[in-house]
Amino acid sequence: EKGGYDYFMLKEIAEQPKAVADTLLGRIGADGRLTLDEIRIPDRALREADKIVIVGCGTAFHAGLIAKYAIEHWTRIPCEVELASEFRYRDPILDRRTLVVAISQSGETMDTLMALRHAREQGSRVLAICNTNGSTIPRESDAVLYTHAGPEVAVASTKAFLTQLVACYLVALYLGQVRQTKWGDEIGAVVRQLADSGRLVEQVLHTMEPVRELARSLADARSVLFLGRHVGYPVALEGALKLKELAYMHAEGFAAGELKHGPIALIEDGLPVVVVVPSPQGRSVLHDKIVSNIQEVRARGARTIVVAEEGDTAVEPYADHLIRVPAVPTLLQPLVATVPLQVFACELATAKGHEVDQPRNLAKSVTVE
Ligand code: M6R
Repeated sequence: EKGGYDYFMLKEIAEQPKAVADTLLGRIGADGRLTLDEIRIPDRALREADKIVIVGCGTAFHAGLIAKYAIEHWTRIPCEVELASEFRYRDPILDRRTLVVAISQSGETMDTLMALRHAREQGSRVLAICNTNGSTIPRESDAVLYTHAGPEVAVASTKAFLTQLVACYLVALYLGQVRQTKWGDEIGAVVRQLADSGRLVEQVLHTMEPVRELARSLADARSVLFLGRHVGYPVALEGALKLKELAYMHAEGFAAGELKHGPIALIEDGLPVVVVVPSPQGRSVLHDKIVSNIQEVRARGARTIVVAEEGDTAVEPYADHLIRVPAVPTLLQPLVATVPLQVFACELATAKGHEVDQPRNLAKSVTVE
C-alpha cells in the first residue's frame, strides 16, 4: 500500500505532481477562464462580498496565509487569516457580506468546524476547501471546493498542502473573474503557470538528492531557523512546522524583516538558517532585502541554506548550500519552494531514526477542541 516507498510520507511527497494536476483538472479552460461549478454561492454574493476571512489549523492555516497575498493582490478584497482555534473566542466581526473560507484536509478538525459554525451563525457564507468527500466541514458549509490529493495517510501534511494552495489560487482567480477585476497582463501568465504547476513540482522532485544529503548531515543540529518574506514567510513557517513534528527539533519560521527586532539574537556559529528567496523578477526590492538578510545572518556565523529560483545569481556568494527551484511568478512560488522543505524534514527525521508517518503525540485528524 506504500507503493514501494518506506513511508507514506515519501509516497505522498512523490504524488504531489499528480495531486496538483488532479486539483486543477477541468477547472481552467483553454481560454484561461475558470469553471468552478462546485462553488454554489451565487455570483451576486461573491460580487457583494466585502471581506474574506480564512480559517484553518496548522498546515491549512499556512495555506491560508499564502492565499491572503494572492487574494488581496489579485482581487483587492480585504482578506484576514486566523487560526481557527482563536477565531470565535475573540468575537470576530462578521456579517452577510463576509465570505469565510475554511481550509481542512480531513474535514473533521474540531477547531475549524467550530469556527465555521460561528461564522454561519453570524450570517456569513462559508466556502470549504477540503480533501475528504462528505466529511463534516464540507457538509456544514455553503459550498465546497474539493482538493483532489487522494487519501493522505502520513500525519505530516504534504500533498494536501500543495493542493490547498492550488484551490486557494483558483478561488482567488475565480473571485477576480466574477467581479471583473481589471487585470493587467500579469494574470494570463499566472494562469498558464498555475495550469502547468504539476510539471514544475515534478521537476523539483528530480533534484532532491543534495537536499537529502544536507538533511542527513544536520541530524545533530539543535535548532534550525527558517526565514522568508512575502509568500516565502508562510513557506518558512511550514518548513519549521514539518521539522518540529517529524524531527522533534526546535525550529522556527520568521518573517525575514523581523530579524532585527529580536530573532537575530538567536544566531550563533554554525546555526542552520534556511532562507526562502522570492523571485528577483518584478519584485526586486523584496529580493534585495532578503539578500541583505542572508548576509546579516551569515556575518554572525549562520550556515545558510538558500532556496532560490534558477538563474538567481545574486544569492550565490552568501549561500553555504543552494537549493534551486524553477522560476515562477512570486505568488505561485510556494508550490515549488515548499517541496524541498518537506523532503528536508522527512530525511532529517529518518536520519534520527524517527517514525515519520506517526510522529509522537500527534493524530492525523484532531477532532477535539
Ligand atoms: O485536517 P486539517 O487540514 O484540518 O488538519 C489541520 C492540522 O491539524 C494539520 O495541518 C497539522 O498541522 C498537520 N499535522 C501538519 O503537518
